[in-house]
Parts: sequence; C-alpha cells; structure tokens
Amino acid sequence: MQSTTAGEEAVVQPEEDRFAAKRGITQRPRDDRYTRVAIILHWSIAALIIYNLASGFIVWDLAHDFFRAPANGAYYLFGLTSHLSSGLTVLVLTVARIIWRLMHEPPPYSEDMKRWEKHLAHFAHFLLYAAMVLMPLSGWAILSAHPPAGSAGAATVPPPPGVPPSSGPRPGPPRIWWVMMPIPAITPIEKLGAEPGGVEPQRILHDEFAEWHEIGGWIALLLLMLHVAGALKHQWLDRHPELQRMGIGRRK
Ligand code: HEM
Repeated sequence: MQSTTAGEEAVVQPEEDRFAAKRGITQRPRDDRYTRVAIILHWSIAALIIYNLASGFIVWDLAHDFFRAPANGAYYLFGLTSHLSSGLTVLVLTVARIIWRLMHEPPPYSEDMKRWEKHLAHFAHFLLYAAMVLMPLSGWAILSAHPPAGSAGAATVPPPPGVPPSSGPRPGPPRIWWVMMPIPAITPIEKLGAEPGGVEPQRILHDEFAEWHEIGGWIALLLLMLHVAGALKHQWLDRHPELQRMGIGRRK
C-alpha cells in the first residue's frame, strides 16, 4: 500500500487499484463476489454445457442405436438440433463472458489458499475457457462437413435417418439455432463436398472432427468434475465461502 498526504487527510491508494487502472479495468470488485453479470453467465453456461455433455453422450454413444433407428428420426432431429443450439449458445455466451472478464477483475482468492492451488485453479479455468470455445467450433465443423444442398456432391449422399428416400437426396442434417435462425456452414469445409470427388475426403474430415469432438467431450467432462471437486473442497473442507463467490447462498 502507498500513502500520501493531501492537506490534513491521508489518501490511501492500494497497489492493486493502480494496477487495475493501468490495465484499463473499469470496475473493481466491491466485495468477495463476482459481478451479477458474471454470475448469470457462469450458471447459464454451466447448465448448457451439462446439457451438451449429456445429450452428446446419450444421442451418439449410450443410446446410439435408438436414435439411429429410422422410426426414431424425430427424436434424433430433436437431439441434434437442441444439442447444436445449446452448444452455439455456449459459444456466444463464452465470448460475452471473456469480454466481461477482461473488463471486470474477479474477486481475489481467499488468502489461506496455497500457491499451487491458485495456479491449479487458474490453469483449470484456462482449459475450461479453451473447451468452451473449441467444443462448439469443432461441433460446427462436423455439421459443416456435408455437401452443400443441391450440389452434385449432395446427389450422391443417401438421405439421413427419418427422411424417406422419396424426398430425394439431401445434404447434411438441418442446421437451425433454437427453431429461429438458420446456421451458416463453415464455407470451405462445406464446399469441399460440392463435387462428387470431394465427398469422400469430406466424409473422412467429418469423421476426424467427430473424433476430436468426442475426445474433447471426455476432456470437458474431466475438467468439469475437477472444477466442481475443487469448489466443493474449498467450500466444505477448507471452509471458504466458495459457492457464495458465485452467487449461491448469503454472504457472511
Ligand atoms: C459446449 C459445447 C459442446 C459440448 C460439451 C459437446 C459435447 C458433445 C459430446 C460429448 C458428443 C458425443 C461424442 C460421441 O460420443 O461420439 C457430441 C457429439 C456431437 N456434437 Fe457436440 N458438443 C458441444 C457443442 C456442439 C455444437 C455447437 C455443435 C454443432 C454446431 C455440435 C455438434 C455435434 C455433433 C454433430 C455430434 C455428433 C458427432 C458424431 O457424428 O459422432 N456440438 N458433442
């Protein structure tokens, strides 16, 4: 801390305030809680990620045969559409959260937290942010890796489950965000399958994206469990008001 005298009064300027001002941080935490916006973003993103992990593993893994049965095409379309809508919402909210985080310093960690614990928490948070950006992007890439509608490439692909062959050959699955907005494909990935010769390389790319997305899902699940375990350890074993920092329960 640095003190200066201005007339009779001592003006105290904490070291961190000058640091925050230098970095252009506009609002300092008033107490040991995150800001209301950060709290709302945190819990909305958490709920959506849990939905994405659950729907992803259920639709494409645990109940794969059920969802892929031709009679259950409507369930599959619901599973896919809600999964991609929720995942893209995670991406939008994560961008908002990163911008908010850069402008609003989080409350400091409890002083009796060990150094290695703070480093581990920082590292886990960084990996979580990376997963929150890379998982939606890799999902979007999977969805884009289908021949564009009406192209010569699309004519060589059989219709997806649930769509009768009489409706003619179709490109990939529908890309609709929460029933409102069509989702554009990532153009270079989609265009690859425009010609029949590009359909097979595009399919290989699709499967690679899907594999990375699945591995990412397992890593995200692991990170989520580590994050929750860390928070609960601080709350119950170390007796820090960890959940209160994120808006759960009253401040002491
Ligand atoms: C937080 C974001 C996301 C998470 C945590 C997540 C998680 C998962 C998981 C765990 C799977 C199952 C993988 C498997 O067992 O095969 C999956 C599959 C899938 N996800 Fe996501 N996902 C996210 C976002 C997205 C987005 C934004 C899209 C599309 C725009 C998407 C499209 C897909 C597709 C198409 C599959 C099926 C892959 C296949 O064909 O095997 N995901 N996701």
